[in-house]
Amino acid sequence: MKQELPSIPGPIGVFDSGYGGLTILSKIREALPEYDYMYLGDNARTPYGTRSFEIVYEFTLEAVTKLFEMGCHLVILACNTASAKALRSIQINDLPHLDPARRVLGVIRPTVESIDGITRSRHVGVLATAGTIKSESYPLEVHKLFPDIRVTGEACPLWVPLVENNEAQGDGTDYFIRKYIDELLAKDKEIDTVILGCTHYPLLLPKIKKYMPVHITTVTQGELVAESLKDYFHRHPEIDTQCTKGGTCIYYTTEAEEKFIESASTFLNEEVTVQRISLEA
Ligand code: DGL
Repeated sequence: MKQELPSIPGPIGVFDSGYGGLTILSKIREALPEYDYMYLGDNARTPYGTRSFEIVYEFTLEAVTKLFEMGCHLVILACNTASAKALRSIQINDLPHLDPARRVLGVIRPTVESIDGITRSRHVGVLATAGTIKSESYPLEVHKLFPDIRVTGEACPLWVPLVENNEAQGDGTDYFIRKYIDELLAKDKEIDTVILGCTHYPLLLPKIKKYMPVHITTVTQGELVAESLKDYFHRHPEIDTQCTKGGTCIYYTTEAEEKFIESASTFLNEEVTVQRISLEA
């Protein structure tokens, strides 16, 4: 039976398949510290990057519905794979039934909007999960706004597991960082801008910078998403008033709590308390 959604204002929901969204959350909190936040990581079912459209959509819809039930009026999909594979369907097919006054936003559009001012060669590369690359979401979104920009993607299937297994600084990681960068740049030698289209990748930034040629600008998403959200609230005061402002942040995970606490500290550099919840109906 459909649950009645709480009508009183609530926190901003931030959803990710696991820990990666914490890199987005921390930048949003830096830019908008006065708001309340509710982070949900579907750690028990991560990674999403290798899963089918149907499954990513089903899991993401479960998470969004849960965040709405827990009081959020606005949910950010802080996961490129969920943004690529589920956002549009949820906005078009599900929000009208769930509650047409609530909103779900993703991370791809704010990232894409920024590149026009960065690339001079008009050749842009995207490093992301296999799911995001396969969805073609980046080229599609870029061409809607900037039809003259050529977009080339490279899937980096091992980067998320390396981060999740605490190998971001490991010696063996260099090989795979270099491999995917070289493969991308070999496809288009005029690339001057590379988007890191996965929320885990900022943790690999020191090594990515080591192997990225100096003339190439590497774009990370956290600040871009935070700035875009700020702008969104200016343009949508009706949504802003539905978001409470107490400066708090609550964490939920679908995995064991101890596991989340241990890994979250790598992403946030702070101790967090977390509660386990289930998303399956
Ligand atoms: N957070 C996901 C993203 O940004 C990567 C992790 C996963 O594959 O679930 O695409």
